[in-house]
Amino acid sequence: MNGKFKNINRLLPLLIIFILSGDGCRKSSVYQERISEPGNEYVEPVDPARDDNEQLFTEYDQFPNVVKQKIEQVLPGGKVDNIVHWGPFRYVVYKSYPDGHGSKIYIYLTGIIYQVAFINGNLMERPGMFFERGSEREIALQSVPRKIMINAGKQSGSDNFLRAWIAVSEQDTTFIVELTGFQENDTTAFAYRSDGILKMLSSAARMREGLERLWTPAQIEELLGPYRMKYNIDTVINRIKSKPYDPQKGCRFVVLGDSRRNLPVWETMCRSISNKKPDFVVDTGDLVNESEPEQYDRYLFGVLDKYEKFNFIPVAGNHDIGLDGQATSYLTSFGPNSLNYFFDYGNARFIILDNCSRVTDFTKQLEITDRWLSQTPEGYYKFVFAHYPPGNVEKWFYHAMDYELSEKFTALMTKHHVDHVFVGHIHAYSTAHFQGVDYSVTGGGGAELHKQYGPRGSIFHYLIVDVTKEGIKQQLVQLYKNDRVE
Ligand SMILES: [Fe+2]
Repeated sequence: MNGKFKNINRLLPLLIIFILSGDGCRKSSVYQERISEPGNEYVEPVDPARDDNEQLFTEYDQFPNVVKQKIEQVLPGGKVDNIVHWGPFRYVVYKSYPDGHGSKIYIYLTGIIYQVAFINGNLMERPGMFFERGSEREIALQSVPRKIMINAGKQSGSDNFLRAWIAVSEQDTTFIVELTGFQENDTTAFAYRSDGILKMLSSAARMREGLERLWTPAQIEELLGPYRMKYNIDTVINRIKSKPYDPQKGCRFVVLGDSRRNLPVWETMCRSISNKKPDFVVDTGDLVNESEPEQYDRYLFGVLDKYEKFNFIPVAGNHDIGLDGQATSYLTSFGPNSLNYFFDYGNARFIILDNCSRVTDFTKQLEITDRWLSQTPEGYYKFVFAHYPPGNVEKWFYHAMDYELSEKFTALMTKHHVDHVFVGHIHAYSTAHFQGVDYSVTGGGGAELHKQYGPRGSIFHYLIVDVTKEGIKQQLVQLYKNDRVE
């Protein structure tokens, strides 16, 4: 490993100590809980002047010339499919090409590009395709194939080559070259296949970060595989079902989501939930902040193992599935059946859907779900869980599932009179009765809260649901800070 990466390795222990001390300072006892009735239809009216996501340019033609020129220089040809105005100063531009390849480019209004991602036939590169973690080795610039040097010169607009590396990929050798220019305050790194095809462009700092972060499937298995003994979804469901169902008591489950890496809130929540003795807990996703195996190890299982006295039912969120969308860490932890599945307990059917990863074709999955719902025993309650909220519920549109898919999804829920749909992704508590079905967003597990849902919604929380012969009863458990203690 070259000196640059060694330095990062030396800094890592310090960084980890810093993070740990930060978590340790805030004692979880500062959170207190308040239990109340469910429901929160409130959302603040949108103030366009404050909306960071406002789309200033709806047509590519309206882009400043400097932006269009830079995009054409780096990603010539193709068709602009979509433009997202991301904050007041940035765009994300999606392009597709006749051969089915696609790409997206992140660019500032000034024309400075800070990231390009290539999407091959709707699939990002798989783990290890960029390069295997730790396999990079510095090489002389003269050793880089001539074709790659020419392409890098053209694509960067610079001829000031600084360094080069090779790294092992799953199917090929990756060549990485670093150049000056093109980015402010940073150099740029390009990763190529050996035949000269560009795989990734990034700021050099980001590329180095990537080199440190990418794991091979074997490394993921080594770290997370052991958790499968306890958390494999088939095992968990068997454990739930092995407990005799008492019709007098009914079934109690908890729903929460978006804990990511807020340890004080997540730990408080796990302790509190354990006291409520649910039959199981459904997490609507974003179990971690980035889907690195270390995060699963530390932020999810590290806490669950310590506090858990409940059966854990996961939903895959967009933060759980990795850059490539293949959900490798997630599947390694929870087993091959953990993305889309259902189980019956008591007098209810519980259906868990993956509307985030690239492993699932969600349109096909909806057809399967149609069958699961049709075949639900007569008189059973039906509950459905997913991560992204439906985007056709207007107040959730800004942070939701694709609109067309949302319409198919909600139509299916209505067709089968689903009793309740629970989703996450929006970091708040928000409810809606939409086309005859009750929906709850419960994403208050620790991630930074969305502010517009009022005092009942923009707060850390989870839901308790009791299903008995009498019906469905929900309770909202809010966690709030006790200022006196702090
Ligand atoms: Fe999310």
